[in-house]
Amino acid sequence: MLIKNTSARFGLPSKLFHWSVAALILGLIWLGWYMVDLTYYDKWYNDSLHYHKSLGILALALALVKLGWQFYTPAPDTLPGLKTWETVGAKFMHYVLWGMMLLIPVTGYLISTSAGKPIQLFNWFEIPPIVNVDEGLRELAITVHYYLAYATLFLVAGHAGAALKHHLINKDSTLKRMLWG
Ligand code: HEM
Ligand code: HEM
Repeated sequence: MLIKNTSARFGLPSKLFHWSVAALILGLIWLGWYMVDLTYYDKWYNDSLHYHKSLGILALALALVKLGWQFYTPAPDTLPGLKTWETVGAKFMHYVLWGMMLLIPVTGYLISTSAGKPIQLFNWFEIPPIVNVDEGLRELAITVHYYLAYATLFLVAGHAGAALKHHLINKDSTLKRMLWG
């Protein structure tokens, strides 16, 4: 079993990080969209926000560990034979997705700690507010959280679409090497 990435292949930890963070982020976009329309009288009103925050912090923690792992063992090179624009486009998209993985939960943290209250992580322990968030910063965090989260849906559609195109049309190992290759 391959653990560290090589110049041509992803090791198992990188694959697990990629798919678990991807599933969490897509699930959190759905949960965020669902929960903001609930009213105070809905039985999921409090629980949905509680799980959104806890799972969001988990996504941030996983993304940070993934980042550390990537510094230790860099991702493989893009496949040989790609055109320059494809390589540059793929790398650019990956950087943007990295930005989303970090910025969305950080802005969520700022919204949630703006009243000076800690976040309860699955009722296991508390994450204290470490930044003093005034009303202006809170409004900015809400706006950025909203736009980045929904923009991610379009980016991931392009990213996953490109992976599928490589798999089905170019018949290369782009998708396979993130799964079992
Ligand atoms: C990658 C992780 C995350 C994603 C993809 C995400 C996504 C979303 C989405 C789509 C919404 C609904 C926006 C709307 O329609 O108005 C939302 C709302 C919200 N999220 Fe997140 N979120 C994440 C992490 C977090 C974290 C870590 C926290 C706090 C610890 C958090 C706190 C909130 C809060 C408080 C709202 C309601 C904002 C409002 O009052 O409009 N989120 N999130
Ligand atoms: C169903 C959805 C998805 C599919 C099919 C998919 C597929 C892939 C594939 C095949 C690669 C390898 C590309 C290569 O070797 O050049 C990759 C890499 C990558 N993906 Fe995804 N992906 C999905 C969702 C996501 C999501 C939601 C994120 C984060 C928001 C994400 C972030 C990344 C990043 C940053 C890389 C570069 C390698 C790394 O840093 O781990 N992906 N993805």
